[in-house]
Amino acid sequence: MESLLHKIEDAKKYIQSIDSGKFDAAIILGTGLGSIVNNIENKKVIKYQDVPGFPVSTVAGHKGELIIGELEGKKVIAFNGRFHYYEGYAMDQVVFGIRVMKALSIENILVSNAAGGMNPEFEPGDLMIITDHINFMGTNPLIGRNFEELGPRFPDMSSAYNKDLIKLAFGCGTKLNIKIQKGVYAAVSGPTYETPAELRMLRILGGDAVGMSTVPEVIAANHMGMKVLGISCITDMAIADNLEPLDHSKVVETANKAMAKFVNLVKEIVRNL
Ligand code: HPA
Repeated sequence: MESLLHKIEDAKKYIQSIDSGKFDAAIILGTGLGSIVNNIENKKVIKYQDVPGFPVSTVAGHKGELIIGELEGKKVIAFNGRFHYYEGYAMDQVVFGIRVMKALSIENILVSNAAGGMNPEFEPGDLMIITDHINFMGTNPLIGRNFEELGPRFPDMSSAYNKDLIKLAFGCGTKLNIKIQKGVYAAVSGPTYETPAELRMLRILGGDAVGMSTVPEVIAANHMGMKVLGISCITDMAIADNLEPLDHSKVVETANKAMAKFVNLVKEIVRNL
């Protein structure tokens, strides 16, 4: 077996040595959205640094832990802190954890992020269900040798975000009376926020929200045939003509304010998986 497959296997075995249960879903928590882990019961916490092959997260507002436990009666594994391309990780490091989730036989993956709103109908604090994405990161996690054990050389991306999960998320939003937006997530490499000219371009090309994550994980998950649900928390308006200066603390602050809504939605979705 090749070294990547070995590494995935080693990480899987380590996690199974701590909890050998069958997981219903993996949840990737975006910037400022980490407190959902407070709702996870019978928790076991694994530091990324203890998992063989895992990189370590470096951004303020991101932790580096896997949280295993029960959420609404379902067994979940949450990534509190993710790996961003702009931190200098190679793309195969960015998606390593997703591959380990598949090795653990997890089928459902819920990916969240903080994003700038480019659709003028959005407001900061809105939650957006991702219906599709555009990869503007300038690279792709599947470049390089393909491992057929993981998935095909040329993976289908015709419904990268699972239609049933999108329907479920909207149903949960309606039930909870939470306004839910939907749209296309445009991923850029970062770490700079966008210039007005870049935002104009991204909007013209079909983006509703812009951010620096998620797409690598979603590509890797689709490669392996996993079902993906994506949720963006709109933390700022990324609209060219009246763009205000933005810093990371504002992103974290707005995501934190939307947290209760996010937590309720995710709980309801997980309960109905
Ligand atoms: N641009 C890119 N990434 C982001 C933004 C933004 O406006 N907000 C949160 N993440």
